[in-house]
Amino acid sequence: MSTVSLINADRLSSPDVIANPYPTYHELREHSPLNYEFLPAGAVSGMTEPVRAWALMRYRDVYGALRDHETFASRHSLAGKVVPRLALIHDDPPRHTRFRHLVNKAFTLRRIEALKPWIASVVNELLNEMTAQPESELMQAYAIPLPVKVIAKMLGIPGEDYVRFKQWSDTFLAFSSMRPDERAKSNQEMMTYFGHIAAARRAQGAEDLITALVEASVDGESLQDAEIIGFCILALIAGNETTTNLIGNMLGILLDRPELWDRLRANRSLVDVVIEETLRLESPFQRLSRITTRDTEVSGVAIPQGSLITIYYGAANRDPEEFPNPNEFQLDRDLRNHVAFGMGIHYCLGAPLARAEASITLNTFLDRFPVIERGSLPALRQTASLMVFGYQQLPLKFHMGNMR
Ligand code: HEM
Repeated sequence: MSTVSLINADRLSSPDVIANPYPTYHELREHSPLNYEFLPAGAVSGMTEPVRAWALMRYRDVYGALRDHETFASRHSLAGKVVPRLALIHDDPPRHTRFRHLVNKAFTLRRIEALKPWIASVVNELLNEMTAQPESELMQAYAIPLPVKVIAKMLGIPGEDYVRFKQWSDTFLAFSSMRPDERAKSNQEMMTYFGHIAAARRAQGAEDLITALVEASVDGESLQDAEIIGFCILALIAGNETTTNLIGNMLGILLDRPELWDRLRANRSLVDVVIEETLRLESPFQRLSRITTRDTEVSGVAIPQGSLITIYYGAANRDPEEFPNPNEFQLDRDLRNHVAFGMGIHYCLGAPLARAEASITLNTFLDRFPVIERGSLPALRQTASLMVFGYQQLPLKFHMGNMR
């Protein structure tokens, strides 16, 4: 392992690498698994040493770790300290199995299918507002509000509460930039709010996900209120920023490919492929931790029990061994095994919902705009969140008539 690689591995959390991690992945992947400084000394209270982790960047290593949840467990020591502890994502079997069965019962394809016409109406409303101006910023005007409104609707939260909803979600994640007492207050408010809704749905059901959660049972066992509140927070956190960035990344890619826009307008069967190739090429969710429960070996490197592991979904999805010409956006690849939604027992619960939102978005944009172009302000990548890859701002110009 060269010195340059080690130095760059320690820079994996720097803002310029968050903005564009791909050149660094390219440089580091062949040295992976590599041991790097995950957090500097003092970043976690009570930890005087830097926290080190093993970065897994090759496709086969990432795939193998995701499939082997017994060796690569999700309930790692930093959940609850560095990042808030979430249900499911930070659970292992048997707790994970029980909870997942219960929420699978509530989060069905039928429920998402039934929501599609409503999603289409919100998409059109947001677009009507956006196109009232000649130029618009996609992230604020569209890609952020759409997933928040959708998850609020699914859960059965009144539409007008969605701004508060977004604030709670942002505050929940602002563990490095906000005072702990302010965050605790906001988190408490959110839990009380969901607690009231769960109690109301127990008293009288409605056509929403919280009612389905209240009613779900496996082998006579059902969810407690605290678990329902935990699930609402999980859906809010896991589902929003990720879907926002899928939408932004997809339109960012298409802005540079006007011929592809024309092709898509003529042939909608390519829409789903565009979504999958976007998920691979610009994976919205980049990395997550695991912990080893036993001594193991990854690509010939011995990793001891109790080691922190970082799974790099984004790096695996550009491994040339699995995806030839990995930096090219190509519609004729085999995309069945990309890991943008994970793999194995933790495979994303919300994947069908995210795909539905992306597909309705792209089809509606194609219906309404013969041409989309970059706006006059620059597009900026976000640098604040380690976990995601996406835009902070993506200015757009639309043309309603045929301009090409
Ligand atoms: C483009 C959008 C999305 C991306 C890229 C994404 C990505 C992921 C990934 C990579 C995982 C696996 C985590 C692991 O390996 O431990 C995951 C899990 C999960 N996602 Fe998503 N997600 C998206 C949208 C959503 C939405 C819309 C929801 C819910 C409404 C959601 C809910 C979840 C949940 C609950 C889990 C945990 C599943 C488990 O541990 O069993 N996600 N997601």
